[in-house]
Amino acid sequence: MKKLIVGRVLCGVVVLLTSSTAVAAVNLGACKGCHGASFEKKAMGKSKVVSNMSKQEVSDAMLGYKNGTYGGPMKALMKAQVAKYSDEELKSTRLGK
Ligand code: HEC
Repeated sequence: MKKLIVGRVLCGVVVLLTSSTAVAAVNLGACKGCHGASFEKKAMGKSKVVSNMSKQEVSDAMLGYKNGTYGGPMKALMKAQVAKYSDEELKSTRLGK
């Protein structure tokens, strides 16, 4: 009985660890040079202020840059930023309000 409980606790820990790695996977530190430490700047004077966008808008923008369906004059630059991430990672940045 005791072994069963320990086993379950361990399973829970493993699940927690894997899911938090997935969320942390997009390296937001790499974005801050352009977007500002709290995403409060217009990147290179061109982008929207990401911290003012809704979570849905950010997630649509990130996926759209990757798929080539979203963006303004500098979208190629953002496409390069997001290319290496999975769709799930791009949806889980938690940026926006
Ligand atoms: C080299 C500078 C630079 C870096 C690094 C960068 N961005 Fe951007 N970002 C821009 C520019 C410029 C735009 C506007 C592109 C366009 O014309 O669509 C933009 C647009 C965006 C938008 C959509 C805003 C809008 O105007 O619709 C989001 C969301 C975003 N970036 C998030 C990120 C995230 C998250 C990262 C890090 C993984 C990142 N950016 C890295 C420069 C950068």
